[in-house]
Amino acid sequence: MTLDIPHFAVVGNPIAHSRSPAIHHEFGLQLNIALRYETLLAPVDAFPATIESFFRDGGRGLNVTLPFKEEAFALARDHLSEQARLAAAVNTLWMNNGELYGSNTDGEGLLQDIQRLGVALQGKRVLLVGAGGAAKGVIYPLLSAQCTSLHIANRTAGRAHALRERVVRLMPRLADRLSAGGLDETDGEWDVVINATSSSVGNQTPNLPGIRYAANALAYDMFYAPRPTPFMLQARTQGATQVADGLGMLVAQAASSFHIWFGRRPDVTPVLDTLRRQLNRA
Ligand code: ATR
Repeated sequence: MTLDIPHFAVVGNPIAHSRSPAIHHEFGLQLNIALRYETLLAPVDAFPATIESFFRDGGRGLNVTLPFKEEAFALARDHLSEQARLAAAVNTLWMNNGELYGSNTDGEGLLQDIQRLGVALQGKRVLLVGAGGAAKGVIYPLLSAQCTSLHIANRTAGRAHALRERVVRLMPRLADRLSAGGLDETDGEWDVVINATSSSVGNQTPNLPGIRYAANALAYDMFYAPRPTPFMLQARTQGATQVADGLGMLVAQAASSFHIWFGRRPDVTPVLDTLRRQLNRA
């Protein structure tokens, strides 16, 4: 019987602590869709073989997480969504007529979560802190949500400039709204500040000495934790009105993957509530 139940997994390294199985299990219950969703540990040097054997064995779809999003992008190069192409990374894989397809739902997840928090990005000045993979995946979605300006600030300023140049090369029309610099070059006031650095992992915060939050500003940490993250605490003392962590983004990007696989979009809110309770108990 279990063979008839569509099989999914999240693949990464490490992967044991992923919340994705719990999230997709809740989505299935909510929409009355039977599915099996597990974690899949891929050796760092054997991602392609792991993917191939998963789909050869009848697997229907995969979420991809660190450190494999770029490799997934390369494997699905013949069938990439626009979001994946612009992010140069893939977090959702599926097969169609024996061919591998890839998309990236991270940006959509972030936008949906910011919307859930009651903040409209249109007309806003957005500061994106960080220039690694997490930042790269959300630049184009943020710009396409019609923010007035997007400034990338990074500890290593050169990486911020390189990231801006990459986006401008792909889409020259975005050049006027996109700027870049170091962490000490955040002149002006910001309506939305997004932490896309990995600093919270080490219980640190990006050092943003001159940052100024506008009235009613949102500080959003793409990282999440049972308690407010160091970035959220710092943002409060620096003047942010509203602070949030990235748990909502995690659930929303998963909902977008679920929609790709099943053509139906789960309601994020009850699943986020359940997950938050589980996280707080942990
Ligand atoms: P990810 O895919 O999670 O973005 P990454 O590509 O290794 O991971 O990038 C990590 C990001 O977090 C970078 O922008 C890094 O800044 P540098 O480019 O200067 O290394 C940033 N970062 C990590 N720890 C930080 C800290 N303590 N303060 C400020 N930025 C930090």
